[in-house]
Amino acid sequence: MILGSGELGKEMALEAHRMGLEIAVVDRYDMAPAMHVAHRKYVVDMTNQRALLSIIRREWPDAVIAEVEAINTEALQEVESDGIRVVPNADAVRVCMNRLELRKLAAEELGLPTTNFGFAESPEEVKSICVDVGYPCIIKPEMSSSGHGHVLIRSPAEVEKGFKDSIAEARGKSKRVVVEEFLKLDTELTILTYRYSSGATVETKTLEPIEHKRPGYYYVESWHPSTVGDEVKEKAKEMAKRFVERMGGLGIYGVEIMVSGDRVLFNEAAPRPHDTGMVTMVSQDVSEFQIHVRCALGLPVPEPKLVSPAASHVILAESEGWAPKYVNVEKALSIPGVQVRLFGKPFMYEHRRMGVILATGISVEEARRKAREASAIIQVVH
Ligand SMILES: Nc1ncnc2c1ncn2[C@@H]1O[C@H](COP(=O)(O)OP(=O)(O)OP(=O)(O)O)[C@@H](O)[C@H]1O
Ligand SMILES: [Mg+2]
Repeated sequence: MILGSGELGKEMALEAHRMGLEIAVVDRYDMAPAMHVAHRKYVVDMTNQRALLSIIRREWPDAVIAEVEAINTEALQEVESDGIRVVPNADAVRVCMNRLELRKLAAEELGLPTTNFGFAESPEEVKSICVDVGYPCIIKPEMSSSGHGHVLIRSPAEVEKGFKDSIAEARGKSKRVVVEEFLKLDTELTILTYRYSSGATVETKTLEPIEHKRPGYYYVESWHPSTVGDEVKEKAKEMAKRFVERMGGLGIYGVEIMVSGDRVLFNEAAPRPHDTGMVTMVSQDVSEFQIHVRCALGLPVPEPKLVSPAASHVILAESEGWAPKYVNVEKALSIPGVQVRLFGKPFMYEHRRMGVILATGISVEEARRKAREASAIIQVVH
């Protein structure tokens, strides 16, 4: 059972089909991508504890995979104590969706390097944290994703409004925010790290880092392997492994690392395949989706191999409307080494991710060039 039916869920469902599994998926709207490839679907608000409990118990699946953050985690904890496997585990889902919990665990408990930060519940508290953190800083709500509620604050005069705007975008009732120093980023990495069952023990493995670029707050382009130096890679992999071993369970995590000068910092982590990791569908012999499904089933995943330098580039909508159409797909597909994945979302709005270009090349530079070119050709209209 997959809680969330977006493009990542769709790829997981396809991998599950290849393993002969029966699949039920859930999302808050009908016709979501994974619903096109599942045996059964439920359209439910997954933050509703009773609703979620009822449908999970009705299905009583061998494993429940959380694909989105907006899920009631008490329900996950309850079904876990019923004996249903939650992937990677209910506590990891709870911690990773909450920036305060995540910071406490990564920075305070494990001592991983992060941006300088503090927690605040009012504009006054933000200002007093900024005495240490400095300006500009970013405030982020306790719970949100895809950059919702991130506000850049340049001076004390902007704090009052910034705090209000951030809280307005928060998920749930929390009035707390994390205040972080604003970094000048050199680059960002995703360290896909997974735990699989190997006989009586569980192995934790990291994959070759993926590098990505985000001109705004959301991901636009990723490439694999990364082009950062070995020292940065090793530091990043070591941090990811420590974090994932602490979280435990079975499954893949996307650990986000920010690089700024000689600082290699833990940012956050997703207890699931990562959007920047869609590139592994062409860069590796075993994709992040197949890894997650195999881990969930208690199957081994020894050493996936890089098969080609590769890149991904998102296809975004630029307007709002039902039944989107895709123009110039044939032109994009005439570029050798380019694949087009359209998610089949029934409705689009500005900046919504509707598809992704996957490209291979003799180098990541060539793959990136092709992915960029192909994504610029395709238009989403209605
Ligand atoms: N302190 C910071 N300084 C500079 N840039 C930052 C900082 N924190 C975050 N960013 C940028 O914003 C992006 C999104 O931040 P973050 O991952 O914390 O938020 P998110 O809402 O969980 O986003 P997503 O769900 O897309 O991963 C980062 O990948 C990075 O590019
Ligand atoms: Mg992030």
